[in-house]
Parts: sequence; structure tokens; C-alpha cells
Amino acid sequence: MTGRRAMVAANWKMNGSRQANLAWLHEFSRHSDRFNCDVAVCAPYVYLDQLHSELRGAEAGAQDVSVHPAGMFTGDVAAEMLRDIGCEWVIVGHSERRQGHGESDGEVSAKAKRALEAGLRPIVCVGETLQQREAGQTQAVLSLQLAEILDCIGAEGLVRGVLAYEPVWAIGTGRTATPQQAQDIHAALRAQVGRCDAATAQALRVIYGGSVKPGNARELFLQSDIDGGLIGGASLVASDFVAICSAASS
Ligand code: PGA
Repeated sequence: MTGRRAMVAANWKMNGSRQANLAWLHEFSRHSDRFNCDVAVCAPYVYLDQLHSELRGAEAGAQDVSVHPAGMFTGDVAAEMLRDIGCEWVIVGHSERRQGHGESDGEVSAKAKRALEAGLRPIVCVGETLQQREAGQTQAVLSLQLAEILDCIGAEGLVRGVLAYEPVWAIGTGRTATPQQAQDIHAALRAQVGRCDAATAQALRVIYGGSVKPGNARELFLQSDIDGGLIGGASLVASDFVAICSAASS
């Protein structure tokens, strides 16, 4: 991290219950006043209201958003509705949405745009699969994903949120990118944004996700282009998430 405020986001995925969330929130708020980083907690839609009222020292985030404004879209949730219940952040383009729900780069970009229009801050995810990495396509894949986003919301839109690099092969597998591997990719992503707007690229936070744990967080966050993390599994255990936020604060 160089002069940028760190950002750590929890991605609870499809986990939680009102009661379990309360215990998590209780533990988290015992420590959150000493964090020196931005923190978002991205929970299933149904718990966002609870999070917004109970969270201290962090902001609530959703894990997806509709590309449409309110209307005839059964089961979808509009960006304005998320704002309405006090949500600040939203993850777009997580690989579990790209793979499990067939979201294309175009749809991911449209969701980021919708989020920004409603005043939400998008956590825009990009990442390559193991197959793509092994075929030597990592740079090409990431560069296409990011190009589509830059075309749609520009560097100035992206910097209102954060960019998250999440190698798909590292998500939930216990297999983390090495700090150097992640640093190299983050620097390349920043350089690509820099070709649109050099000053904005320097201000942009690029966070890393994929098996971040209390034991490897510090070393990852020490890299000059890694500005924090998007945390899945380890965010479910409040004390682990607190340890990761502490690592990002120092
Ligand atoms: P993980 O998930 O930390 O469990 O690997 C990260 C993510 O999917 O955002």
C-alpha cells in the first residue's frame, strides 16, 4: 500500500442467521474502533438491514445487484433499494456469479454502472481460472475483463469503488497467490487503468481475494500495489476477520 487507505471487505456469501450475525457483530465491534482502514461487510440481502443497524466501524455491502431499476424483475434487487436500507457497497462480478449465474463481462460492467448511478460503491471483481492460468492466458483474460469495465464506467467510476483481483483457483481452496504473484497482477491492472488516467490509477485501491487468512494477510498487504483484501471463508469467524483488518491497519 502506498499512500492509499486500505480497504477490507468481508464476503459472507450465503452464510449467516440473525442470531449468528449478532454474535459476530458483538465480537467485531469490540475491536473495530481501532482499525485504520475502510471495512465493508457484504452479507446476503436479507441481513443487510440488521447489519446496517448493528454494525459499528464498518459499512454494509450487498453481494450482487440488478442491472435494472425497479420494475417487473421477480427476485431481483435494485441498487436504489440497497441504498434505501443504508447499504454503501456492492460486490459485482464475483466469480461465483460469473460461473454459477452465467454473468458476462458486459453484465458485470452494467451492474457496476447501475450501482454508481444509485450512489453505491462497487467492489468490481476480476480473476482468471486455473485452466486459463495454466494456458498462459492470465494477463489476456484480466485485461479483457478490466477493459470492458473501463469502457463502461471509466477510471473515474472505478475509483469510486475498488477493484478486486480474485484468482478463481485461490477462492475457497486454501491455495493463495503468493504475495509476489498477486503484486505482479495488481501492478499490471493498475498500469492498465493508468493508460486511461494516470492520476486516478494511483488513487485506485486494488484489493486481493482468495484464501486470505490471518496468517498470510500481512505479507500480502505489505506489497506496494495490494491495498487490502476481499475475504470469504475467514470473514465468517469474527476474530479472524478482526485479525485481517488489524493487519491492513498497520
Ligand atoms: P475465500 O473467498 O477467502 O474463501 O477464498 C474469497 C472470495 O470469494 O471473495
